[in-house]
Parts: sequence; C-alpha cells; structure tokens
Amino acid sequence: GELDILAFTAIGVDQDGTIDFIVPKITDNSISNLISITLENSTCKNLIKEDIKIINISDDENKFFFPGFIDTHIHAPQFPNNGIFGNSTLLDWLEVYTFPLESSFTNLDFASQIYTKVIQRTLGYGTTTASYYATIHTDASNLLADLSLKLGQRSFVGKVCMNQNSPDHYIETIEECKNSTIQVIDHIKERNPSGDLINPVLTPRFAASCTDDLLKWLGELRKKGDYHCQTHLSENHREIEWITKMFPQYQSYTDIYLQNNLLSSKTTLAHCIHLSDDEMNILKYTKSGVSHCPTSNSSITSGEARIRWLLENNISVSLGTDCSGGFTPSILEVAKHALLVSRHLVMKTKDDNEKLTSNDVFYLATMGGAKVLNIEDKVGCFKKGLKFDAQLINLNAKDSNIDIFEFQNPMWNTLPINDSKKKFADLLDKWLFNGDNRNIEKVYVNGRNVISKV
Ligand code: GUN
Ligand code: FE
Repeated sequence: GELDILAFTAIGVDQDGTIDFIVPKITDNSISNLISITLENSTCKNLIKEDIKIINISDDENKFFFPGFIDTHIHAPQFPNNGIFGNSTLLDWLEVYTFPLESSFTNLDFASQIYTKVIQRTLGYGTTTASYYATIHTDASNLLADLSLKLGQRSFVGKVCMNQNSPDHYIETIEECKNSTIQVIDHIKERNPSGDLINPVLTPRFAASCTDDLLKWLGELRKKGDYHCQTHLSENHREIEWITKMFPQYQSYTDIYLQNNLLSSKTTLAHCIHLSDDEMNILKYTKSGVSHCPTSNSSITSGEARIRWLLENNISVSLGTDCSGGFTPSILEVAKHALLVSRHLVMKTKDDNEKLTSNDVFYLATMGGAKVLNIEDKVGCFKKGLKFDAQLINLNAKDSNIDIFEFQNPMWNTLPINDSKKKFADLLDKWLFNGDNRNIEKVYVNGRNVISKV
C-alpha cells in the first residue's frame, strides 16, 4: 500500500548484478562526484576508477528506474493465440483454441520461433522474471529454458503434466510424464547449476488433467527435491463442479492439491477466484501463493478474484498475464486490469475496502511476485543484496502515449517545497494508466542489460 521513492539516489551494482550500495539524497550529480561516491561506498575489492560504469539519468526528470515486473503465470506456447478467444469459457476454450496449438510443439523449429518471440516480447514489456508453462513435450520445454538462459530472462520453466481428460494427440502416459518431468528438471539444473537465472517448476496442468497416481507422484517429488510447483485452481464454476465430481474422495478442489503434497510456500496457484473460506485457509496454512490473472478472468468470463480478502488473510498474491487466456503479455496492462476488476467487485459488494490502489497493483507486479515465487531475497525491489532487475522508464519517450504537456500540472505548484512525493506518485499513475512498452528504454536482469531501445 505504500510507495517508497528513492529520489536523487545512487544505486551501486557489482559485477554479479548484486546491489552493493544505495546512497540517497545526492546533490552533486557530476560524473566525478558519482565516481567518488562509488569508490567510497562499494564493497568490491580493489575497485579502480576505470572499472566503474556510470548511468546517469539525473539530468532528465522524465526518467526513473522501476523494479522489473514479475509475471507469475504465463503459457509460452499459447502466445500465437493472444487475442483469439471469441466467446468461449474455460473448458470449451481449452478444447477449441488451446490444446490444438500446444500439441504442435513437437515441431522444434516452430517452438524456437515462438519461444524466442515470447521471451523477447515479455522482456520488452519489462518482465524480468516469468513463470512459464511449456507443453507436455520434453525437447520443446528444454528449448524454452535454453532460450531464457540465452536471452537473459529470469524464469521458472514447467514441463506440463497431463495424463487424462486430454485429446488423444496431446496426452501422455504416467510413465512418459514421469520420465519427461525428470529429464526437463535435469536439463535445467545442468544448464544453470546455480539456479541464478532458470529454475524448474513442477506443473500439473490442473487437477482434471492428472490422475490421482500422477498427482501423488508429483507431490512426493516436490517434497523430496523441495521444488517449485505451479497449477490452476478455482478458475471457473463449471470446472470446479467437474473436478469436485471427478475427485469425490477429497473435501474440495484445493484439498486435492493439499492431500497430494503439492502445496508449499514455493507453490503458485493461478486464478483462485471462487475459493471457500476453508480453501482460503488451506492456502494460508501451506503458505501457497496466488497468481491473480484479471485480464484472463475477464476475457474468458471466469470471475472476479477477491484480492483484498486474500491479502488481509496474509496470503501472498502476484500478477499473471495467463497468455493466452489473457490477451496481453504486458504486466503493466494486467496491473491496470487488476485495479479495474477490483472496482467492479466493489460495484457488486459495495465494500470500498476491496478497491485496489495503484500502489497495491505496483506491489503485486513486483514484490508480490517475488514473494509468491519465493525469491524475495533476490528480486522485487531495490535493496542492498538483491539483484538489479530493473526497467529504465522514460515518460517522455519518442512516440510515447503520454503527452509531455500534462506534466505541467498547476496542482503540483501548491505542494510544499521539497514534498515531491505527491508529484512522483502522480507521475507513476500517468505511467500506469497512459504508458506502455514505448516508455521502456532499457531492461536489466541480474545487472545485465538485456533490452536496449536507445
Ligand atoms: N486450466 C487448465 N489449463 C489452463 C490454461 O491453459 N489456461 C487457463 N487459464 N486455465 C487452464
Ligand atoms: Fe493459465
């Protein structure tokens, strides 16, 4: 709910991309002074002047750094379907649009083309961390991980598991699923042993796609390896009815995942729209996180998730594009939709407390994502010891959708001198509601410049 603005601040980043120091309230922004500040505050051994690279944005009041966005739920292979969903709802949408497209990822040339595009596009929208669903295919899933490593996006890559209720041409046996799951985990660990960029995530598509045996095996594997896990939960009324009938031995949809050991603080559950109090309490006690996907939930008419209710019950919440249930790969746009959907909820419940503010949705897009993915000790904001995952925003960028004359707002002249906080907050709102990827000049992951438009 609160915005922490570091005005006139120097952030020192070391060679590994770790934030080494933060020095606020700098009055002299000359390069020579910035170098002195770095030499004084850096903990890097034997640092000499010549090793320091300065990026000075202090001369342009339209520019600022913002923490990189975290998309906790995105289906990489569904990218070609963005915007194409007609009047479908979840179960017919899966049959008509989704399974036919995903099944084509046996073709590695096609996979390479699409996955390269997905990573470049999401990075270009400021997504520095993404939690991906791939498909059931081993090779294409490995390829998604390789491309993420190569193009420099922090990611979780999940080979999708589905051994029931799926089309004949897009289904696996439990043995095939076990083998490919292990193969993809091994591949990712081999490519990036430190896990500083790519990580595996166990991905039962949703309870309906997996037999009890498969869920049980995945739960055991999760416990043994302390793996991340992601799945869908409580998205659509017909889905809930179907699944609770399919698994009568469980108390609820959420209980299926609980009893099979799939819930932990490293589990991300997408949607969570129609949870009962008991189900919410399961999330609370297992510390499972939620990926709120308002764009998708509106597009395929799933419902309005009660985000304030979840937050007030100390459940971690983040944002997901859920491409292509959602049509946009932009977390900035999803943040807007989260704010609007919360207001639609208020129009029904008459409870103003449910309104999400811009600060709330900026939190969900960054620190909330880091918390849900259990990487808040790595990313989410600018703090000493965290990795520098950031986007350089220029409100006055060429072809920007924000008109510069709007900045001369007479309202700001009435602010007390030195109280620039309100002005910065207003400018962030401009960015949230009127900005887009044209306002992103550079993107950094682990301190590495991965997108540069100027
Ligand atoms: N439930 C099962 N699979 C999917 C999927 O691909 N997208 C969404 N939104 N929900 C699902
Ligand atoms: Fe999804």
